[in-house]
Amino acid sequence: MFKYPKVNYIGNKEKIAKWICDQFPIDAKTLFDAFSGGCSLSYEAKFRGLEIYTNDILKINYHIANALIQNNSTVLSKEDIEIIFSGEPFEGFMFKNYSEMFFFADECKELDLYRANIENLDSEIKKSLAFTLMRRTIDSLFDLNYISFTDEGEIIFSKRLSNDVVEFWKTYQLDKKILNEKRLSYLAYHRELLTKKDAVA
Ligand SMILES: C[S@@+](CC[C@H](N)C(=O)[O-])C[C@H]1O[C@@H](n2cnc3c(N)ncnc32)[C@H](O)[C@@H]1O
Repeated sequence: MFKYPKVNYIGNKEKIAKWICDQFPIDAKTLFDAFSGGCSLSYEAKFRGLEIYTNDILKINYHIANALIQNNSTVLSKEDIEIIFSGEPFEGFMFKNYSEMFFFADECKELDLYRANIENLDSEIKKSLAFTLMRRTIDSLFDLNYISFTDEGEIIFSKRLSNDVVEFWKTYQLDKKILNEKRLSYLAYHRELLTKKDAVA
């Protein structure tokens, strides 16, 4: 079985998915996951051979279900990845609504580019795979202390990162304009966390 790809979903049932499935009637053949969220429960039930129906009010959770539950064999090819990363970042929905709120403005422009490019992939499952990956990876290198930044905005890498990731990100830099007092103070704390995690790795 493929390992469930964590989706950082608040309230996800990953840790207890096996236990929940153990409570199902022994002759159960179908699961209706009415609030499927990140699909950790559906994923475990799919592995056990049940027929799965998912439901969720959020569009991103439809994509997660499509990518992890509906999908059995589709993967993104190198050409698909090239489509997603092609072109120039622009000021779209993410930029207009989330700049300096959840993400930096430059990150929002990148996300607007990827969102638009994903629509050019040639199947719905591929689009769902790409959105699921995008949701999974946004900021996770930073959140999990694999990267941090100097007070000048230069990127710092954890020794836990593989060379190919370092190679990909090595020229990335934060715009100094956004490094106000509050962010610099958080960065100092964030760098300390990275060092501590590296020390025990
Ligand atoms: C705690 S999460 C479910 C986590 C999921 N069981 C898992 O293992 O990852 C609850 C989900 O219910 C969805 N939800 C809330 N109200 C809903 C509604 N009225 N109809 C459908 N989904 C709803 C939310 O979008 C959220 O994804």
